[in-house]
Amino acid sequence: MSPATESATEFASGAVLLDAFGRRAEDLRISLTDKCSLRCTYCMPAEGLAWLPARAVLSDDEIVRLASVFLGLGVRTIRLTGGEPLVRAGVAGLVGRLAGLQPRPELSLTTNALALADRAEELARSGLDRVNVSLDTLDRERFHTLTRRDRLADVLAGLAAAQAAGLTPVKVNAVLMRDENLAEAPELLAWALRAGYQLRFIEHMPLDADHRWTLADMVTADEVLELLGRSFRLRPVGHRGHAPAEEFEVLDGPGRADWAPVLDGGHHRVGIIASVTRPFCRDCDRLRLTADGQLRTCLFGHQETDLRGALRGGADDAELAELIRQAVRAKPAGHGINAPGFRQPERPMSAIGG
Ligand code: 5AD
Ligand code: SF4
Repeated sequence: MSPATESATEFASGAVLLDAFGRRAEDLRISLTDKCSLRCTYCMPAEGLAWLPARAVLSDDEIVRLASVFLGLGVRTIRLTGGEPLVRAGVAGLVGRLAGLQPRPELSLTTNALALADRAEELARSGLDRVNVSLDTLDRERFHTLTRRDRLADVLAGLAAAQAAGLTPVKVNAVLMRDENLAEAPELLAWALRAGYQLRFIEHMPLDADHRWTLADMVTADEVLELLGRSFRLRPVGHRGHAPAEEFEVLDGPGRADWAPVLDGGHHRVGIIASVTRPFCRDCDRLRLTADGQLRTCLFGHQETDLRGALRGGADDAELAELIRQAVRAKPAGHGINAPGFRQPERPMSAIGG
């Protein structure tokens, strides 16, 4: 079947989620909790946030049920996020149930890795395919200042455990802030290349609980590339498809003798996720389900669809599918961060799910 015929058939059978701009939603991020074991200063205040009450949070059964409806609509990849997903009890069990669904989704987990050293093996055995670990610095003091917890050693142990368990490629996400860790970017890259982790720098986005973000202060992709370019030779890796990261092959740089033998997929790469200055909304294939069961079609949007209400109100799968289709049809074209009148979403990142 030609690709065109195939997509026409899928569309006719309803097994594809198309929005008004021709984008297909195939990636679902499910937040398992809004709680977190760190207090990153760009994300949460020291005292934490007003957490969702337990009854508001979807149960494992509810998550599995909704996931199966999404899979029936053409979603192929599921990423578990938070807050910090591993503060929820029984994540490996949930992973196992999701891995048992048909068609089997590709399963990944975004984590701060504090609890990963003990769990990586079990998660991999349960069917988890990959992890993305958030880590902004390799300096113990700076980690403590940035996250308000002295736990760098646990993160490093978690990363090593993930790699040993085959949760690869292990990706590391770093947010750079000018007066805090920007100067450390080249060192972070050399470290990741040596260890065989795929590092991606994420532009700081207006999603903090304190609304302190400003366009003028944020570190841009151009700035990061300029800084890395002083010590590394980078070559863009062409088309990225739906991936939010623009990838660069690292051809040369400091300590190359140490990292050259460590090959992950045959390439040394670094990624830049430039949501603010190089938005990739046109290729966005993502949907988000918050821990309290609200479907969001855009990280920065203001619209939510109450799937938990429908589910607990007795909706059957066909009714849930129709709600999801309607939400996707109304997915906005883009986030408009740079447009006048941009309003930060009511929920911070930790309550939406990265
Ligand atoms: N901007 C960019 N990234 C953020 N994260 C959390 N808050 C923000 C923000 N305001 C990152 C975390 C983690 C991922 C889930 O999102 O550091 O890597
Ligand atoms: Fe936790 Fe992630 Fe927020 Fe840090 S950025 S406090 S790890 S949810």
